[in-house]
Amino acid sequence: MLVARTVSELRLALETAQSPLGLVPTMGALHAGHLALVRQARSENTTVAATIFVNSRQFGSHDDFASYPRTLEQDLTVLEAEGADLVFVPSDEEMYPSGCETRVDVGRIGQVLEGQFREEHFLGVATVVLKLLNICRPDRVYMGQKDGQQCLVVRRMVEDLNLETELVTVSTVRDLDGLALSSRNALLTDKERSAARVISQALFAAKEMWESGVKDADRLKQHARDILAGEPLVTQVDYVSVADARTIEELKIVQGRAMLSTAVKIGSIRLIDNVMLDTD
Ligand code: PAF
Repeated sequence: MLVARTVSELRLALETAQSPLGLVPTMGALHAGHLALVRQARSENTTVAATIFVNSRQFGSHDDFASYPRTLEQDLTVLEAEGADLVFVPSDEEMYPSGCETRVDVGRIGQVLEGQFREEHFLGVATVVLKLLNICRPDRVYMGQKDGQQCLVVRRMVEDLNLETELVTVSTVRDLDGLALSSRNALLTDKERSAARVISQALFAAKEMWESGVKDADRLKQHARDILAGEPLVTQVDYVSVADARTIEELKIVQGRAMLSTAVKIGSIRLIDNVMLDTD
C-alpha cells in the first residue's frame, strides 16, 4: 500500500493505477463503518484509494476540531489489511497551500438541519470533497449513509457540476445495541456510551410507528423526542427531522421515501443518526 503525502506523489501513483478506481474519503479514526466502505470499494473496483484528512474547513468555531480523534498509524494498518492500494494523507498546507478562497455552495440542501447548527459545515465538506475528487479522479466515491445529509450534498454537487464520478452510499454500520458507528463515539465516557443507544432506539421506535401506519411527521418526530427525553444524559436535541430523502424538504405527511434524522448531544459529544422510511 502506497502512502502519498503530496498531490504530486498521489497523481504519479495514479498514473499507473488500473481503473476503475474507487475512492473512500475519510477523516481517519477508522472504525468498522469505514471498513465497510473500503470493502465495498474493494469488491467493485480494481484500484482502491482512501484519503485521511481532518478537514479544518468543515468544523465551525464551536466544533470539536482540536479534540477530533486522530489515530493515523492504526488507520494505515487497517487500510492495508483491507486491501487498499493507496492512501492520501495530506497536510493542511498541502490541501490549502494558498488559503483556498473558492468555496462550493450547494445551496439550500446544505443550509438546513446540520447546516443550520454547524455554521459553514457543508461549504467545507463540499469544497474538500470536490478537491479530493479532482485530485484522485475516481470512477466511484464511497460514503456512509450515517452522514445522510452529507451524501445528499455530495450527490447534488456531482449532478450540478457534471462530475464524472458515481456516488455509492453504503448502509450505516451499528454496534450490537444499535448505536451508529462514528469516530466521535470514542470520545464518550462509558456511561455516555451506554446512554447513546437511546438515539437509535428513538429513531427505530418512530420508524416502527410509521410502519404501523402513522404517516403524520409531527407524531413520528414527537415519539422520537419523547424517547430521547427519557435519557438524562441527553443534554441537547438539535433537531428531529422527517424530510424528503432527495430534496431534504421537511415533510408534514410521509408519502414517498423519507429520511428520519436527529442530532443529539450526549454529555458534550454531538452525535447524528438517521433511518430511512421507505418501502424497499
Ligand atoms: O465524512 C467525513 O469523514 C468527511 O466529512 C469527509 C467526507 C471525509 C470530508 O472531509
